[in-house]
Amino acid sequence: MSSGPVLGIESSCDETAAAVLDGGGRVLAEAVLSQTGEHAPYGGVVPEIAARAHLAHLPGLVRAVMDQAGLDFAALSGVAASAGPGLIGGLIVGSGLAKGIAIAQGLPFVAVNHLEAHALTARLPGLVTGGAPFPYLLLLVSGGHCQCVAVEGVGRHRRLGGTVDDAAGEAFDKVAKLLGLPWPGGPALERLAVSGDPARYSFPRPMLGRPGCDFSFSGLKTAVSLEVGRHGAGALDGQAAADIAASFQRAVAETLADRAGNAMAMFPEAKLLVIAGGVAANGAVRAALEEAAAARGVRLVAPPVRLCTDNAVMVAWAGIERLRLGWSDPLGFAPRPRWPLDAVDMRP
Ligand code: KG4
Ligand code: ZN
Repeated sequence: MSSGPVLGIESSCDETAAAVLDGGGRVLAEAVLSQTGEHAPYGGVVPEIAARAHLAHLPGLVRAVMDQAGLDFAALSGVAASAGPGLIGGLIVGSGLAKGIAIAQGLPFVAVNHLEAHALTARLPGLVTGGAPFPYLLLLVSGGHCQCVAVEGVGRHRRLGGTVDDAAGEAFDKVAKLLGLPWPGGPALERLAVSGDPARYSFPRPMLGRPGCDFSFSGLKTAVSLEVGRHGAGALDGQAAADIAASFQRAVAETLADRAGNAMAMFPEAKLLVIAGGVAANGAVRAALEEAAAARGVRLVAPPVRLCTDNAVMVAWAGIERLRLGWSDPLGFAPRPRWPLDAVDMRP
């Protein structure tokens, strides 16, 4: 079944986003409002503030993308919203608005699993010629998620391994905080690392060389914390901070490459390794993964950064993929703060 234009809504964490795609996946309009400024004073996302910000901004953002696309709501073929996993307040706001539009216009509503939206991004037209064919491997590395997933079809995903403690982005954020950098720490740490020596400190590479593709970052974080402590409170000079940042970043990049290498061996059917999540924006991480993939004859697909971080284009696209299969969800669908990618067969 083909689809006409679809509106996508993302509100699972701290990005308020809306996008309209035509039935073929061409982006007609997209907008993302980051709430970073509202959460930064607290050093992390405050769920209540996030929910209120989504409530304040989402209706206007949806109107703006519809105007930009030059469409009335009646011209849509469906409305898709992230319905989990994520912060429940934001999920309720986004999926509630999507359901309201669906009721008013008599349209199908698609409750999108946010992780599946990241997973299916690689199939957006224009990224891989002809669209990424199933199956492929997904490495999702964000602030809240760190996992290797075998993507076998729409609604068909197998988690091959994941973090046993922190997510990779969380590790970046915590180490950045130790170095006195503002939240969110990943981008700031990457900038600082440019002038640092990645070989000065030999931080542990957690899990390196172990079978499987689980991750662990707490030991690495502790090692960095001890090193910072050795310099004494407030006594970390600029060069030492840059060297620590560069050495930490290299340890993460090598660890991710090692784990992804094992995941590729566990899922040899995959000829593509797709990366998603905010940490996939990191240059050192991309380079290490590029090398690991090339060593196994696998092609790395690194979507542009705006499609790696949270956005609504991926949500609309996941909606289109499901609508094409004739799948939509009841309006009574309750958003799910926890919704693992492989715990359920996601076909309704
Ligand atoms: O995917 P994302 O935008 O949001 C979710 O967590 O869902 O990822 C944000 C995470 C943060 O932890 C942030 O510090 C990290 O991705 N991040 C980076 C970079 N850009 C964002 N980490 C390392 N290097 C970057 N350039
Ligand atoms: Zn995400």
